[in-house]
Amino acid sequence: MKQYDVIIIGSGIAALQLANKLTKDLNVIILTKEKLTTGNSYLAQGGVAAAIAPSDDPYLHYLDTLEAGAHHNDAEAVLEMTQKAPELIKGLWQSGCRFDDDGKGKLLLGMEGAHSEKRIVHSGGDETGKHMVDFLIERLEANISIEQSTFVYDLILNKEETQCIGVKAKLPDGRNEIYAAPHVVLATGGCGQVFAYTSNAETATGDGIALAYRAGAELADMEFVQFHPTLLYVAGKTRGLISEAVRGEGAVLVTAEGKRIMEGIHPLKDLAPRHIVSQTIYDYSRKGIQVFLDISSIRDFGSRFPTVSKLCRDHGTEIENDLIPVVPGSHFVMGGVKTDLQGRTSIPGLYAIGEVACTGIHGANRLASNSLLEGMFVGGKLAEWINGTQAYRDAINNLHIPEKNFFNGELPEPDILKHTMMNRTGIVRTKELLMTQAEWLSQFNLERWLDAAIDHLSPSTLNRLFMYIAASLITRSALERTESRGGHFREDFPNEDNANWMKKQIIHQRKNVKDGKHEFNQTALAT
Ligand code: SIN
Repeated sequence: MKQYDVIIIGSGIAALQLANKLTKDLNVIILTKEKLTTGNSYLAQGGVAAAIAPSDDPYLHYLDTLEAGAHHNDAEAVLEMTQKAPELIKGLWQSGCRFDDDGKGKLLLGMEGAHSEKRIVHSGGDETGKHMVDFLIERLEANISIEQSTFVYDLILNKEETQCIGVKAKLPDGRNEIYAAPHVVLATGGCGQVFAYTSNAETATGDGIALAYRAGAELADMEFVQFHPTLLYVAGKTRGLISEAVRGEGAVLVTAEGKRIMEGIHPLKDLAPRHIVSQTIYDYSRKGIQVFLDISSIRDFGSRFPTVSKLCRDHGTEIENDLIPVVPGSHFVMGGVKTDLQGRTSIPGLYAIGEVACTGIHGANRLASNSLLEGMFVGGKLAEWINGTQAYRDAINNLHIPEKNFFNGELPEPDILKHTMMNRTGIVRTKELLMTQAEWLSQFNLERWLDAAIDHLSPSTLNRLFMYIAASLITRSALERTESRGGHFREDFPNEDNANWMKKQIIHQRKNVKDGKHEFNQTALAT
């Protein structure tokens, strides 16, 4: 067994921000299932939203975030984040993180969908995530150990099941290891891989969602999945993201005949909220009509969008022809492990930050370029909280591994899971489709898997299991929410139903952990 003060599972922007902000006397380990840079943060083409322009105001950023989130957001949390955003960006910039500027000391600000002002800060054009992650990795100090290719597959609670005090992980050589710490942080990213069309890294298989659910933490808002409108679509497969910044710079969505598909659909046309653009493209593709991004109005496309240009070239799409074939695909899950603004979950000692968390900031649909921001913001706040607490240092002496039975049932074949999720729990949902998917999923014995010992499973089987758990929670929530809101669209309930659903969260929590009675806001622990 290895002992630390803080275990961070995952290595995206939120994890790295936390690691950098923790005090140097804390012994911290980052456990990541592949390489440090294999994840969604590194792929992020979009930038970081912050009200920096003289004509802008954090309050406008706040209003845009609530509007995109269909007012399902935690408004106070949004207010705090949007107010802190300019200071966060300026702090990073001053400490050496390179953001794109005009060469005269002013940051360049881009436009993206559903923003009322130009407020997106980029780095290296569409390589923002890569540059920020590299910057934060370079600054990690000696108190931070890193173990790559180490797959965390279970959380360990104390004997009384009142506190998380460690994890079990698969090492690169196949052995299992126990890591103990009074603070265990899930920073594992989202679960975009449960859908056949996705912009997400292959590692985004819902690990943190499954770990937390098996351990008994509260999860919320799992029905809210954002489908990004424009993924490159070649030979029947999605091949990666075409950033919304491309539309922000003037590209428009057209059919092969040149008809602009967003005319008359929404006043913001091609920059309407993502769910509206995605549903419109999806309607065309259901009729067998391919939609393209017409980039003819963008000068110097290759240098402005190096990542997108390379992606297109690598898949045989010539940007010189000005038309990029696109379809929508899963991009971000707004729901996840329910936390407060410090990242504290319903289980003391267990935290969640970044996409795996549901802080309430994104509401029913995330505003573009708010995710790197949220990761930095909440990662920093969690560091402040951990730095200020001595809680539970003795608790890991009470480490207890309960006896559980092994279960060797079948799991869904990943390709079938992804396609059925896309077709039945995807961009357009109905009761019939969701029921069909729920029934199909139920044959794999979710409840047995939740209670089983899984130490003997290989990393690839664990990935399958975690995707299955995440897919089941998304499907259950989507069936339960009989309205449309943000990223959740029910064709049979096409409107928002404020009377029944406004601000109402669908919570998932297993009953067998202290009857789900952990206090949520553990303010007493902050001393
Ligand atoms: C994009 O560049 O379109 C993605 C940005 C984001 O999702 O925040």
